[in-house]
Amino acid sequence: AYDTHIEDFDFSFEGPFGTYDQNQLQRGLQVYTEVCAACHGLKFVAIRSLSEEGGPAMPEDQVRAYAENFEVYDEEIEDFRPAKPSDHFPESGLENAPDLSLMAKARAGFHGPYGLGINQFFKGIGGPEYIASLMTGYTGEEKEEAGIILYENTAFPGGWISMAPPLDDELVEYADGHPNDLHNLSADVSAFLMWTAEPKMMARKQAGFVGVLFLTILSVLLYLTNKRIWAPVK
Ligand code: HEM
Repeated sequence: AYDTHIEDFDFSFEGPFGTYDQNQLQRGLQVYTEVCAACHGLKFVAIRSLSEEGGPAMPEDQVRAYAENFEVYDEEIEDFRPAKPSDHFPESGLENAPDLSLMAKARAGFHGPYGLGINQFFKGIGGPEYIASLMTGYTGEEKEEAGIILYENTAFPGGWISMAPPLDDELVEYADGHPNDLHNLSADVSAFLMWTAEPKMMARKQAGFVGVLFLTILSVLLYLTNKRIWAPVK
């Protein structure tokens, strides 16, 4: 088997209290739009969700303007028209490029030790780490097989992927001058794809925390009640 290498990127949303970094999600959206969208789609993601709290939280007028980047087919007018916030992102334009909506949850970065996946308990499943490592994992080696060019990649299972290296240092220019070397671009787009795959993560963690807190308080009350009920007997 080919030994894949996954780098353990530090993401803001890791751990029980981790949250998405709104600015990072917006930068990742920019990378997605300028680079990945040429081939990949996000067909399960509604464009309007870009304005959701806990996500990129873009102002609604910006989302409306952003939607017009895309053309969608409208059954009612039987023609293409600019997308609206109520539409979803388009599907993949390139047939063999998979849809990226759920990719960060469909792939695992950590499998060990011995394929038991115990690392996942401590580090997380590693979907976004896998995507980021895929972006940074190209060795520069290429080969041709049955007329298809394959690129060597240390993160891709099997070691050879048909996707050409999509990112490079300074390929995307951020408006706020944020660092845009390959490592940063990769982390940003992966964070964005984690959000598309799990947009309600922050609400879920919060509900979980409230649940644990509630059960803790309930346990204390039940313990004290129990003591009191049995006090006359003892
Ligand atoms: C596959 C991400 C840009 C073409 C993939 C996969 C991911 C990914 C996560 C799945 C790998 C797997 O199956 O485990 C991205 C990101 C991009 C990007 C984040 C932007 C930064 C592009 C572009 C093209 C492209 C611009 C076309 C020129 C493909 C193809 C595959 C693929 C053909 C299938 C590869 C195979 O299974 O051998 N991409 N991609 N991607 N991508 Fe991209």
